[in-house]
Amino acid sequence: MVTLNINGRDVQVDADPSTPILWALRDNLNMTGTKFGCGMAMCGACTVHLEGQAIRSCVTPISAAVGQKISTIEAMSADKVGKAVQDAWVKHDVPQCGYCQSGQVMSATALLRTNKSPSDTDIDNAMSGNICRCGTYQRIRAAIKDAAKSIA
Ligand code: FES
Ligand code: FES
Repeated sequence: MVTLNINGRDVQVDADPSTPILWALRDNLNMTGTKFGCGMAMCGACTVHLEGQAIRSCVTPISAAVGQKISTIEAMSADKVGKAVQDAWVKHDVPQCGYCQSGQVMSATALLRTNKSPSDTDIDNAMSGNICRCGTYQRIRAAIKDAAKSIA
């Protein structure tokens, strides 16, 4: 058993310590908001926060998260910055198929926690690891700027 702190709660996960966080979330805990895309840290669909930093849960073992705080998309509506990002996503009608979007929201939230007024370059740098096959990048950028204004 491995004890993880997920969205403010300690949970027991019956999995090998080398199991990626993504599969502990999805298979052990039935938290399916975090998505599997590439499994190789190349698409960002699986992004969660570890101690507030955006990480790729498909390549991060649960052993690396012991004693640290994991946050997932399921907790973002109760987070001031995460809620502002989600509201802006709705306002700008960002998703198309939606598959990449929980990862996009997690990366955008991590960005706005440390940078209250990101430039286009800041946004591009922070979001470059989150691929959207539907090409929603322009709406994502607009929504991040809107969320930044609402947080300010
Ligand atoms: S599934 Fe983790 S980066 Fe693609
Ligand atoms: S909305 Fe379809 S992959 Fe991003």
